[in-house]
Amino acid sequence: MTTKFNDYLKKFSEIQTPFYFYDLDVLRSTLDKVREQSLKYNIKVHYAVKANANPRLLQIISSYGFGADCVSFNEIDMAIRCGFKPDQIVFAGVGKSDKEIVGALKAGISCFNCESLPEIEVINEFAKKSSLTANIALRINPNIEAHTHKYITTGIEESKFGVNLWELDEVITEALKLKNISLTGIHFHVGSQITKLSVFKGLCLKINEIKKTFETHNVKLESLNAGGGLGIDYDNPDIYPDFEKYFLIYNEMADRDPDQKFHIEPGRSLVAQCGSLITRVLYIKKGVNTQFAIVDAGMTDLIRPALYQANHKIENISSNCKSRRYDVVGPICESSDVFAKYIELPETKRGDFLAIRSAGAYGEAMASRYNLRDLAKAIFSDDLK
Ligand code: LLP
Repeated sequence: MTTKFNDYLKKFSEIQTPFYFYDLDVLRSTLDKVREQSLKYNIKVHYAVKANANPRLLQIISSYGFGADCVSFNEIDMAIRCGFKPDQIVFAGVGKSDKEIVGALKAGISCFNCESLPEIEVINEFAKKSSLTANIALRINPNIEAHTHKYITTGIEESKFGVNLWELDEVITEALKLKNISLTGIHFHVGSQITKLSVFKGLCLKINEIKKTFETHNVKLESLNAGGGLGIDYDNPDIYPDFEKYFLIYNEMADRDPDQKFHIEPGRSLVAQCGSLITRVLYIKKGVNTQFAIVDAGMTDLIRPALYQANHKIENISSNCKSRRYDVVGPICESSDVFAKYIELPETKRGDFLAIRSAGAYGEAMASRYNLRDLAKAIFSDDLK
C-alpha cells in the first residue's frame, strides 16, 4: 500500500499548507500486519502514544484491540477517550508527577512502569491513601547498545532510564516490603529507530537472564515487556518494517512461561509511514553551490532532521521535469531549519507541493509554536475521497 499523491493533488490545493496528511489506508494495512503477528504469537501490542497522539489515529489504533503505552496523564486521558481500555494502559516515564500518579490510580490503569525506588515509594504512598494496590513493572536498564542516534539510545548504563543491573537486587528487596504495590512485571526499552534486529535478540538474552534474578526473590512475573524501538526505512517510505522477523525474534528467543504475558510497545513503526508533511514551495533562492527551495513548513512542524539529523525522503508531487539539486529549508530563524541538503528533485518552482515522507511518527507529536507559528492541521485521506 503506497500513498498515491496524484489522487489527492487537486484537493490539496484548497488546503492551507503546511499540513500533515495521513493516509488511513496505509495506517490500516500497517495495523493489519501487526495484528496478524500479534495474534500469531500471542504477543500483546501496546501502542506508544507519544509517537502520535492524534485522536483520529488513536481511535483507529484502539479499534484493533491494542493497548497503550503512555508517558503522561494527558496521554492516558486521551487514550481512554479514544477507546483504549484503562486495564490495557501502562504508564511509563522517569518523572511521573504526584498529580499524574493520582490521576492514573483513579483511572484504573493496568500498570506503572517504574524507573527508580523513590518513584515506587511515592506510588505506594498514594495507593495507600486510596486503599489501592498498584501494579508495578520494574523498568530495567539492560546496558545494551541500540546502534541508533545517541539522543534516542535509552538502555546503556549512562542513561537516566530504568533501574541499573547492579542495584536490581536491592530495589527488588525494598519494593517487596511495600504493602500497596504489587511487583508484577519487568519492562525494557533500549532505544528507538533500531534497524539492526540483532539488538532485539541481545535484549531477549538479557531478559532471560534477568528473569532469573526475580526467581531468586520468589517473585512471580506476570508480564514481560520488551518496549518499542523497531525502526523504519526512511529512504524507502513505502517499504514496511519486517514485522514478521521482529515478532519471530521475540517468540523464539524470549523465554516465556506458559502463563506469562509478553508485551511490546511499538510507536514509530505503526504510524510513521502513513503520514507525510505537505508543504508548499515559497521561493527558490540561489546559494553558493546549491539552490534553496524555501518551503512553508519548518522545524516547528517536523523537528527530526534538525534534532537528530534525520533523513526524511522528500518528493515534489507537483512536478516531474528534469531534476536538479536543492537544499530544502524552512522559514524558521535557525540555521538548523533544514529538511534536506543537496538532494535531487524535479525542477522545482514557487507553489509546488512537496511531500516530506514518513512524518507520521514524532512529527505532529513534537510540533511547537516557536516563532509564534500556527500549528499545522491534520488532514485524513478518508475525508478527501
Ligand atoms: N516505549 C518506551 C518506554 C519509549 O520510551 C518509547 C519511545 C517507545 C516505547 C516507542 O518507541 P518507538 O517504537 O517509537 O521507537 N522523538 C524520537 C523518538 C523518541 C522515542 C522515545 N521513546 C524520534 O523522532 O526519533
